[in-house]
Amino acid sequence: MELNDNEWRTLKIIEISMKHYEWVPLFEIIKKTKTNKKEALYRLRILDKHKLINRSSYGYRLSHWGYDALALNTFIKKELLSAIGGKLGVGKEGDVYNVILTNKREAVLKFHNIGRTCFSMGKRYRSYLAEKRHISWLYASRLTAQKEFEVLNELFPIVKVPEPIEQNRHAIIMGKIDGAELKKVDLKKLDVDIYKLFWDIIEEIKKMYKLNYVHCDLSEFNILIKEDGDFIIIDFPQALNINEEGQKFDKIPGEFSQDIEFYLKRDIGNILRHFKKYGINEDLNKIYNYIIGG
Ligand SMILES: Nc1ncnc2c1ncn2[C@@H]1O[C@H](COP(=O)(O)OP(=O)(O)OP(=O)(O)O)[C@@H](O)[C@H]1O
Ligand SMILES: [Mg+2]
Repeated sequence: MELNDNEWRTLKIIEISMKHYEWVPLFEIIKKTKTNKKEALYRLRILDKHKLINRSSYGYRLSHWGYDALALNTFIKKELLSAIGGKLGVGKEGDVYNVILTNKREAVLKFHNIGRTCFSMGKRYRSYLAEKRHISWLYASRLTAQKEFEVLNELFPIVKVPEPIEQNRHAIIMGKIDGAELKKVDLKKLDVDIYKLFWDIIEEIKKMYKLNYVHCDLSEFNILIKEDGDFIIIDFPQALNINEEGQKFDKIPGEFSQDIEFYLKRDIGNILRHFKKYGINEDLNKIYNYIIGG
């Protein structure tokens, strides 16, 4: 797919105008692109042909693919991305692709697509999106990508998380890990000390907590394990910053710390439940106290 500068510009104008319109009317596009009706309609036809926009009797709006294309184009313009490979995973709220960077390094591209399926945002999402009025999938997706990128930057490289490389709109480029989800791996078939692995994971949760973060969606689905037993924790859009969120919610301190306790215990509980299959029986409260202890 090749677009010229005018077509890209028209697409960007539609993106920006969606702040004010659900469907951007033709007159607005003509005005903002400083062109005439005939030329504007011509460009819109091309964008439509490539499925980058949707049309209705009210006007035009960006399609999901249009939003993806804008992010991709930005990465390419920055000379960061050189090729996109196959899909690594389809998550509830995003697609993940293998990519090759211009420096030949392999990496991962994650698109956040909030509201592409049903708009079933978790409590944590709602809390920080609620502030935005007229929220749409576009802004919701960008916000969650920004949030995930921010968290990765705070945690990397102290905690075992993917290296954050770049973020644009709803897309993140991050370091790639050659591993499988813990859920899909039979640890008994790997050359690992399962008890040590369990405690190594707890140690990462503790490090995260010391950096003021609780993952809030930690489970065997969001830990990738390599053949040699090394692992990495992924998927941070729901992470909770202990300090910031406390202020934002304007909650009484006691109530807030109950929230932290709830999410942290749920994360630990998920790990405990998974490792129980391997005969590891540890006490949740003991681990919780170890993590929050100095
Ligand atoms: N850095 C990475 N390296 C290798 N594979 C990855 C990486 N990040 C994600 N993946 C793969 O893509 C899948 C989905 O990624 P991730 O868990 O971040 O998103 P998600 O599950 O869509 O998010 P959510 O849980 O919010 O729906 C992972 O389970 C994993 O298989
Ligand atoms: Mg996931």
